[in-house]
Amino acid sequence: MIAIREPWEIDRIRAGGRIIADLWEELRPALAEGVSTAELDRVADCFIRRAGGTPAFKGYRGYPATLCVSINHEVVHGIPSPKRFLQDGDLVGIDVGVEVEGYIADAARSFLIGPAPAPLALKLSAVARQALERAVEAARPGNRVADLSRAIQRTAEEAGFSVVRQLCGHGVGKALHEEPEIPNFHKPGITPALKPGMVLAVEPMVNAGGWRVDFLPDGWTVVTADGSLSAHFEDTVVVTEDQPLVATR
Ligand code: MF3
Ligand code: CO
Repeated sequence: MIAIREPWEIDRIRAGGRIIADLWEELRPALAEGVSTAELDRVADCFIRRAGGTPAFKGYRGYPATLCVSINHEVVHGIPSPKRFLQDGDLVGIDVGVEVEGYIADAARSFLIGPAPAPLALKLSAVARQALERAVEAARPGNRVADLSRAIQRTAEEAGFSVVRQLCGHGVGKALHEEPEIPNFHKPGITPALKPGMVLAVEPMVNAGGWRVDFLPDGWTVVTADGSLSAHFEDTVVVTEDQPLVATR
């Protein structure tokens, strides 16, 4: 069953989403060569708690941090470390979940570090962002989950990139991962119809090379199998009677 959320529940998800939107601005000045990924995590943890939220990833299946920080060929779920430092030219994905009064918002952005990002990194991040935009636009009653999947896959592949297949977007609300699963590529078969009150974490993961990924022995970090760059954008979107409502902007 896909939950249909009441307005008061959506308000709580939006409260967490507002904290995430503000967090991106808080982190931006820190995103520079030489900062450790653990320092970013510390800044985010303090900011979220001061704003009245709780980091939703910490403790989730034993995950140890507030953020996932995934650099270059890392796709998602990179664990912050005091020994890992950002460098100019890096493409850095930051993923965060915030809980407010029992409800969760989930979002991610990819950032380019330094004054002269490589053209490929720029293009990849722009395409992943556009894939998210188009999927958000498709989050309307009358459409199905497959319409989001198709929008993401088409946007990535028309640009010559690929979408990760082993990881998906998802419903979000009382738990971080709820129904439905939202693949980033089209799978044959009937997918759920979208209805007002559904809350979806839409998260294209776009690789510059092939779609295959590997899982590192740390139990978390996902990397591209071919070592190619990867970009990740995510927003929590509420399906409404009319325009999709993005809770995390
Ligand atoms: N947004 C990520 C996802 O949906 C959440 C990371 S799971 C965690 O997969 F365990 F790292 F928190
Ligand atoms: Co997510």
